[in-house]
Amino acid sequence: MCGIFGYIGKRDAKRIIVEGLKRLEYRGYDSWGIALLEKGKIHQYRDISEISTNKRILDLPCSNIGIGHTRWATHGGVSKKNAHPHISLTKDFTLVQNGIVENFEDLKKDLIAKHVTIKSETDTEIIVRLIEEARNKEKNLKESIISVFERLKGRNTIAVLDSKNGKIYAIRNGSPLILGIGKEEIFLASDTLSFSPYCKNIVVVDNLEMVEIEHNSFKVTDLTNSKVKNVTVTKLKYLYEDIDKGEYKHYMLKEIVEQSNTFINAIAYSEKDLQSLSKSIKQSSRVYIIGAGTAGFAAGQIAYFLRNIGGIDAQDLRSYEFASYLPIVKPTDLIVALSQSGETADTIEALEELKKKGCKIASLVNMLGTTISRLSDYQFFSNAGPEICVASTKVFTSQCVWGYILAKNIVGDLKGGKREILTLAKELKTFFSSKNLSSIDEISKKLVKQEHMFILGKGQNFNIALEGSLKIKEISYKHVEGFAAGELKHGVIALIEKGTVVFGILSNDRDSKDILSAMEQVKARGAFTIGIGDKKFKKKDVFDRYIVTPGRDIASSITNVIPFQLISYYLSVRLGNNIDKPRNLAKSVTVK
Ligand code: AGP
Repeated sequence: MCGIFGYIGKRDAKRIIVEGLKRLEYRGYDSWGIALLEKGKIHQYRDISEISTNKRILDLPCSNIGIGHTRWATHGGVSKKNAHPHISLTKDFTLVQNGIVENFEDLKKDLIAKHVTIKSETDTEIIVRLIEEARNKEKNLKESIISVFERLKGRNTIAVLDSKNGKIYAIRNGSPLILGIGKEEIFLASDTLSFSPYCKNIVVVDNLEMVEIEHNSFKVTDLTNSKVKNVTVTKLKYLYEDIDKGEYKHYMLKEIVEQSNTFINAIAYSEKDLQSLSKSIKQSSRVYIIGAGTAGFAAGQIAYFLRNIGGIDAQDLRSYEFASYLPIVKPTDLIVALSQSGETADTIEALEELKKKGCKIASLVNMLGTTISRLSDYQFFSNAGPEICVASTKVFTSQCVWGYILAKNIVGDLKGGKREILTLAKELKTFFSSKNLSSIDEISKKLVKQEHMFILGKGQNFNIALEGSLKIKEISYKHVEGFAAGELKHGVIALIEKGTVVFGILSNDRDSKDILSAMEQVKARGAFTIGIGDKKFKKKDVFDRYIVTPGRDIASSITNVIPFQLISYYLSVRLGNNIDKPRNLAKSVTVK
């Protein structure tokens, strides 16, 4: 979703900002813009095409100060007019925003009643007009920004470039805002990845804090008491200088194949690191694992591991459904939040409410310096490295792997758990280098004309069926439904006819016989059956195709998702879809 970037320093701001916006584009965007300050004058460029240093950008004057924005439309269509920055009528300040002004209709009505001209359909322009109005009442720009910000409802973060003094002001409430402190330069952005080639030192701005940046200095003010804050500078572990596709055509395939390494990175936790969380889990009355989308399915998988390996009362909970659980949540319950971005609005809202209930919070996040980590009593990182493709692949399996070793640690067998994962990682390397990729591509050819497909899972493979179907939906735009094999006879079987594609996921466990019999039933009704899982079940009379996955017993469910990721990839390539940036989707869902 929307991304904010700001820069004051010694380099060519236009290049740094465009580069920063490109690094933010993975979040999803449909238009973009930049504003530069040169000799007291603001120069802007807004576009609805791909972010690039095009001729119009190159024609902008040289400058060391500027702001930029990637927009993911919420109010008003995708147009240059609606793209940010939105400049004041007198062209002396310009503003970018991330979030949704929930009371925008009321504020707009007031302005229209006062005959203020509104040029765009955005909630962002309303903020600009309100700031102009406040400033006309003899307030300076900084005070006007604060007073208007206080009137905005919802989660919003803004950045304003002031032409009069060359400063950038920014206020955060909800959507992320991070400062990067370099040598003679300061960055301001929605994530650390966007400026990561240039600096490791960061300051995470908290809600209701205002940042004021000028050359070589910055100040953070707590707006709740108007006091300047003593900030904590955190050092990032890595500088991600090159984020590129390497030998791959798309980030998605690169990230899928990286899993033989990310499995290993996900287990970089010792007994000591896991000790206090494991203790808290054992002492809690119940553990709720929460997340949305793919992270929600990983939550289901981890809850399964905690119940079936650790004997823990663990329940997965979709972040956006937390409200219906509030009446039964106890302060002695523990919450484990999963998120790639660490900024998912649904998950943040749930955590804030659950925290109020007195629950302790643990989190597993992939990005550094995020809101979800900061809300947590126990912070863990999935260490999967930047995941650029909108569809999550390697982070899903990292989350499952972490949950697996956590469950093993609870029963005192962390070493055994890690050994199993290392074996899986090794087998995965062979899996990716073998002829598997071409035979999966071959299977995907069969699916090009299908409009509806079904995936059956049970027990440890139930959430894998849900995640597998989400993966194929996201990129191929095909209707794929994952469901519990047990549901088949209770209704879904009515949809099966000659040629319907049905996948069955099988691990070497007690549920496999039910999946096998469900697959026999759909086969008897003419379905085209594809099995995924343990080689033991590769039966010609049940399956038209079979993909053998690495792993044995319980940990094998984690690798069972990989053929679905690959099918999603190869099928979508065949369909000519935009693999890394599927339509309508955003990587970081920072609004509700
Ligand atoms: C994953 O493929 C999806 N794009 C999406 O469901 C995602 O998992 C969800 O929005 C949650 O994001 P998070 O992990 O950053 O919290």
